[in-house]
Order: sequence, then structure tokens, then C-alpha cells
Amino acid sequence: MSTVTTASATREHRVTVRSLASRKRKAEPFTMLTAYDFTFARIFDEAGVDVLLVGDSLGNVVQGCDTTLPVTLDEVTYHTRMVCRGVRRAMVVADMPFGSYQVSSEDAVRSAIQLVKDGGAHAVKLEGGVDVADSIRRIVAAQIPVMGHVGLTPQSVNQMGGYRIQGRGDEARHQVIADARAVEAAGAFSVVLEGIPEELGREITELLSIPTVGIGAGVHCDAQVLVMHDALGLNDWTPSFVKQYANLGQQASKAARNYIDEVINRKFPDEEHSYS
Ligand code: KIV
Repeated sequence: MSTVTTASATREHRVTVRSLASRKRKAEPFTMLTAYDFTFARIFDEAGVDVLLVGDSLGNVVQGCDTTLPVTLDEVTYHTRMVCRGVRRAMVVADMPFGSYQVSSEDAVRSAIQLVKDGGAHAVKLEGGVDVADSIRRIVAAQIPVMGHVGLTPQSVNQMGGYRIQGRGDEARHQVIADARAVEAAGAFSVVLEGIPEELGREITELLSIPTVGIGAGVHCDAQVLVMHDALGLNDWTPSFVKQYANLGQQASKAARNYIDEVINRKFPDEEHSYS
């Protein structure tokens, strides 16, 4: 028998669409965090986060835009490349930005291929349900795993009239369920449920055989995702469903103020930090 190479041995430990499906079958929740660069990708991967999402939220938290709409395919590709360099175990999912899949399903496949071929992503994510089912089918046919995203879809901010909780009331509830079902039927391996009532999150999670990843969708989802800047306390403001697991913003500000103080008072560099 031939020797097992290091590369294939490593591959066995990677998070894959199959290992995530098995986590759902065993009712073992998994985790997803956004990441946009090498440093945080390495930290999260080593900590054991299962999936890193190069979200188009980079428009908000990295670029300082009001919405995710200006983010381009080349920008997501660039950040995906950096994230992939920091990862040994996690699955890297690249978000398809606004404009990269809405015109036609040919466009959608071409954009998904760029994120995999040039960015190194293991899977792509796109927003929408019934309306994008054909594009999901075509991307999956090109052998690229797709994560869907239904409920509150930030790329539809103008159509929704703001970032509003979705699925409240019978008609809206049925629409979110129909979207989630359409995403699954089109071949997606997983679906993000964003900004919906907890009970609807539970209902969809029970209805679908693919894992649901909740963000503001309650505790019953198969997995949870947070934007890293929210989870680490790097933003001025966070939505009410977010739990802040650290306060890196305050720590960074304190460190910067100490640095300024020591430089202007000629305390840094001291002897220990100077060459003789
Ligand atoms: O872009 C993003 O970060 C996302 C998550 C909020 C799911 O889509």
C-alpha cells in the first residue's frame, strides 16, 4: 500500500460538507465566525471554529460603508485569499457580493468559480430563496458547495425598507419557509437563517435535512454565526441578538493611549527595547 502523504492526512481533519451534515444528524451544533484577514483566520482556526465566512459584511466592518452593496467580487476574492492562508482545519465560505449573481445564473457560476479558483474558497454563500434557486442549482452542478441565506438578507436592504426582522405574520412566515425549502431543493449544503423569530428558526431547522446556521434566529438552529467585530467588541454598536465575547475595541484604545503617553514622555523605547 502506498504511504499516506501529509497533505491527504491533513485533509482528513478538515471540516467538509460531509462532516457538517454528519454534525446535523448527530445533533452536534457547529460554529461559524466571519473573518477577513490572515491573522484572525489563524486565531479562529486554531481555536476550533468550524467555518470561517468571508462575509460581504466586510463592507460594513472593514470598509466603513453603510451597507454591503458596494462590495465587489474582486474585494471578496482578495480577502478570501488572505483568510485561506490562515486556515488548516476550518471550511472557508466566500460570500457572493451584490451584483455578482443577480443578473443571470451564468454570471453566478462565473463569480462562484472566481471565488474558488482565485480566492481558494471551499464553498460560496448567496442571499435569497426561491428567486435564486436556479443559480444555486447551476453553481452546485459546477461542483461548488453552496450555503444559502434567507430571512433578513442585507443585500435587499432597500427592498425591505431597512434591516427588519423577517417572517413575522403568516404570509411572511410561509415565504421564509418556502425560501429555505427552495434553497435545500436546489442542492445547497447549508442555509443561514438571519433575523427571524426563534420559533421559526426551530421550525425550519426541523423541516430541513441540511444544517441551518442562525444569526438572530434563536438557539434551535444547527449552528450559529456572528460577525467577528460584533463578537469581539470592535464595533461602536451591535444589534441586540449579539453577545459580545470580548472587548478588544476598549483594549486596543487603552493600548494606543499608553503608547502615546510613553512616547511623548520618552519612556519608550527604554533600555530593554533598544540596541546597545
Ligand atoms: O456577510 C456576513 O457577514 C453575513 C453573515 C451576517 C451571515 O452574511
